[in-house]
Amino acid sequence: MSIVKGILLAGGSGTRLHPMTLAASKQLLPVYDKPMVYYPLSTLMLAGIRDILLISTPQDLPQFRRLLGSGERLGIRFTYAEQPRPDGIAQAFHIGAEWLNGEPVALALGDNLVHADHLSTLLRRAAARDDGATIFAYQVRDPERYGVISFTEDGRATDIVEKPPAPRSNWAVTGLYFYDGRVGEYARNLKPSARGELEITDLNRIYLEAGRLHVERLSRGCAWLDAGTPDSLIQAATFVQTIQTRAGMLVGCPEEVAFRMGFIHAVQLRAEARRLGKTELGRVLAELADSAPGLTLASDRSVAQA
Ligand code: DAU
Repeated sequence: MSIVKGILLAGGSGTRLHPMTLAASKQLLPVYDKPMVYYPLSTLMLAGIRDILLISTPQDLPQFRRLLGSGERLGIRFTYAEQPRPDGIAQAFHIGAEWLNGEPVALALGDNLVHADHLSTLLRRAAARDDGATIFAYQVRDPERYGVISFTEDGRATDIVEKPPAPRSNWAVTGLYFYDGRVGEYARNLKPSARGELEITDLNRIYLEAGRLHVERLSRGCAWLDAGTPDSLIQAATFVQTIQTRAGMLVGCPEEVAFRMGFIHAVQLRAEARRLGKTELGRVLAELADSAPGLTLASDRSVAQA
């Protein structure tokens, strides 16, 4: 059975982005022409996930509700939950335990952006795997900032360490994880780390040690960015601007993904485009709704009447 549920983690205090995040949620800051959270949201949707639990701080949650609503406009469903304190990424599975109900789940960090050719195929393959966990690794110049995974020469993962001062490889673990139905039980057994957090890396290590961790190494043709510091925020914005204006391709646009995945029809996409007013994004979405092959005005009408 394919993973149908996803957690979007958008809490934390965003201290590395102060003063920008003193009065605003980091994951709602703009990355070029969209709020940051749109990018990981689009990633979950590309995996075919339509049932999403958004977790944020008690003070920021109302803004996320305002932005995303019930999800109906995108043909998906949002549930919202509070994380009172940033006690660690893996705490998401405690907070979401009831909603999760022992089912497999994907987790996306609200400040991560992935862009790749055939990303949907890669993600759907991870979502279809019904045993173990799947994580994605990406080669970076500064692995000490991330979870780091090492491999044997024949490509078998050997260890995974959070922010090691002397990294044994340059493969960073990205903020996108797919877990089988045992994740809740594993997360319950985690203990806080020395810095007092329930670490996602400790959870992944449980899967690794059980021989149940699949690691997909993202190739150089892929882009993975996080937007947690002023420099990475501007780099992410410039990346999106470059791809969108140069190649005419949208990056991290949930309305487009909803349409291409068949979650919404052209008539709904057109309504979303209208909501965006005179923006370039609105124009591109309206054009997509008009040009989509196989989606005729007649089928639009049947949706409008439904
Ligand atoms: O970006 C990938 C990296 O994300 C991984 O390589 C690391 O293994 C993983 O620990 C994490 O490292 P960060 O240093 O980036 O984690 P950070 O504390 O910045 O949190 C990542 C996102 O999750 C951020 O958007 C805030 C949110 N978050 C974090 C914590 C600890 C929460 O919503 N609640 C939390 O309790």
